[in-house]
Amino acid sequence: MLSAIVMAAGKGTRMNSNHAKTMHKVLDKPMIGHINDTLDSLSVNRKVFVVGYDGDSIRNYLKDSCQYATQEELLGTAHAVMQASQLKDEEGKTLIINGDCPLIQKETYQKMLDASEEYPLVLLTVKLEDPAHYGRIVRDDNGDVQAIVERKDCSKEQIEINEINVGIYCVDNQLLWKYIYEIDNNNKQHEYYITDLVKVFKKHGHKVTAVVSDDKDEMQGINSPSELASANKWLQNKINSQHMANGVVLVDPQNTYIGPDVKIGQDTTIYPNVRIEGKSVIGNDNIIEEGTVIINATIGNGNKIISSRVTDSQLDNNISLGPNSHLRNNCHIYDNCRIGNFVEMKNVEFGTGSKCAHLTYVGDATVGEKCNFGCGVVTVNYDGKNKFRTTIGNHVFIGSNVNLIAPVTIADNTVLAAGSTITDDVAEGDMAIARSRQQNKKGYGEKYLNKQH
Ligand code: UD1
Ligand code: MG
Repeated sequence: MLSAIVMAAGKGTRMNSNHAKTMHKVLDKPMIGHINDTLDSLSVNRKVFVVGYDGDSIRNYLKDSCQYATQEELLGTAHAVMQASQLKDEEGKTLIINGDCPLIQKETYQKMLDASEEYPLVLLTVKLEDPAHYGRIVRDDNGDVQAIVERKDCSKEQIEINEINVGIYCVDNQLLWKYIYEIDNNNKQHEYYITDLVKVFKKHGHKVTAVVSDDKDEMQGINSPSELASANKWLQNKINSQHMANGVVLVDPQNTYIGPDVKIGQDTTIYPNVRIEGKSVIGNDNIIEEGTVIINATIGNGNKIISSRVTDSQLDNNISLGPNSHLRNNCHIYDNCRIGNFVEMKNVEFGTGSKCAHLTYVGDATVGEKCNFGCGVVTVNYDGKNKFRTTIGNHVFIGSNVNLIAPVTIADNTVLAAGSTITDDVAEGDMAIARSRQQNKKGYGEKYLNKQH
């Protein structure tokens, strides 16, 4: 049985923010999202997130992927752990995790779990040139861990110690609940420190050890916007290096932002200032140019995407998109389509080889193969109360400035004349013209222009 307690109730005063500190994002995910996913990759059986300040936003984000405990008063990290008492009868190990240490990788947790086979309490530590505000690891003459002393409680000598506490612990769950109530708040901050578990375990004769990491960046806690920026940089470098090793061409990796769950195929080239997030999957041989944002999208092979936004949608193969196209809410664009400047599509199926090159809105529509949309076509899908669908067959030519008032069905091999407002269905092979006839008034043009002077 493996459990986890994530301490995420603190306000994060040094963040200088109105939101829960652990909801601040590292790349595309809040800190607690990274931790939750890492715990899932370790097959943790029970996860309890301790929430307090702005706890609703944490609950809204993690939903029922974990359990919660509420810390009403923020009396310190040991007090936070005490709130997760729904775990007190469990056997096995418990990981106790600072909610502001989201970069710790699965492999590091695994090392702690391995050490916990022999030691009922395992800490994670790292040596820093500047141990800053972190808790110091005090060792005895044999090199065994004796205590963690918070920066504010350090003696002059202890301040000089450069091995610090990362804020991740692996503990025997039965011993944790046996001893946690022995922790007091006799310290400078009058808080209950989880770090004091070390003293209590030692007092009762239990062995304590530390896994000493050599990656100080992975170990960093996030307490301020500048530490958040440095965490972002570290994760960005790690993810981007991996993609480049897999054969993805990042023209400027420092200015390319790819989330940890994104998959990208070989020979896809990504230009600077591109952001790819969520569960996006991108195939091979794509070109993704500057300013593009892709969130939860599936992109096939051989596409060219220029300065566009694609969310929750699917693009198949050999599609040209942009500049400045916006596809959202469940669009599916089939092979060989062209979608051009300032085209917005929402919840649209756009059939193989169809084209929509300029200044158009297509919403709630099914479009067949090889259709051509002129400039300025609008599917009028909303009457102020309800949304309606437009259905367009194969080989349909839609002239410029056509409005399709949904619900409406346009059959195969039809033409909608430019400037038409289409309110009725059009049968196969027909042409629809719905516009008033033009009148030319002889000489009126000159007369009008002369009046202006
Ligand atoms: C803590 C450790 C310190 C360690 C550092 C590593 C303690 C006493 N100190 O200090 O030894 O070097 O992390 O980053 O544990 N929290 C609660 N409830 C509370 C207080 C805090 O849930 O009452 C949560 C916070 O939301 C945060 C985590 O616990 O996610 C750590 O709290 P924080 O105040 O950041 O502790 P540090 O001062 O960084
Ligand atoms: Mg902290």
